[in-house]
Amino acid sequence: MSKKITIAIDGFSSTGKSTLAKQVAKELSYVYVDTGAMYRAVTFFAMQNGYISKDYFDKETLVNSLPFVELQFKFNPDLGFGEMYLNDINVEKEIRTIEVSNFVSKIAEVSQVRAKLVEQQKSMGIHKGIVMDGRDIGTVVFPDAELKIFMTASPEVRARRRFDELAEKGQSVTFEEVLKNVQERDYIDTHREDSPLVKATDAIELDNSSLTREEQFQKVLELVEEVINQ
Ligand code: DC
Repeated sequence: MSKKITIAIDGFSSTGKSTLAKQVAKELSYVYVDTGAMYRAVTFFAMQNGYISKDYFDKETLVNSLPFVELQFKFNPDLGFGEMYLNDINVEKEIRTIEVSNFVSKIAEVSQVRAKLVEQQKSMGIHKGIVMDGRDIGTVVFPDAELKIFMTASPEVRARRRFDELAEKGQSVTFEEVLKNVQERDYIDTHREDSPLVKATDAIELDNSSLTREEQFQKVLELVEEVINQ
């Protein structure tokens, strides 16, 4: 059996990180972890409890409530990857709404939230054989990952993808709304004090504005082969 490695996939929102990460994990029979889902689940928790809404954020109460936030990925054999559970309830659908997307960057700025999630993410990777996607995987969670990919694409291309995804799920949003959300999140993700989104110095940049999913997938598989055969 070939050696198992850790693959960190970071990048801007809606660059197709999770699609690629899932594909790679499936091909290699690795565990896939979507860390954005964890930040989204904490955001949903804050919304449910009234800690965050438009123009209001009770950060202190959220931080004090963190011990009561239990996050777990439960493997769904039909899908081939783990789904996000918040306090034992499947929240996959609830965390993918535009409302959660609008608040999530605020939640992801909170250091205590990051510390809790990063600790859990590190422990998920101790046996390697993992593909994890997020914003700080190659820099903070797994700085020693054998393969780091940093994904980019233009904001318009990314907004179009997210818009199509939401429309497919029947959510009524405009393209302009989605583009604005993408641009705002880019700004907050790259400017926050704790673990801003930056390309790790040893990450390989993958601009997929004009790559097909298959081309991108093959490229990453080649990189994996190279690392494993080193
Ligand atoms: O990947 P996503 O769009 O589902 O992520 C949702 C938000 O969570 C994103 O705006 C930034 C934040 N995030 C983060 O700060 N760190 C991560 N490792 C993953 C996501």
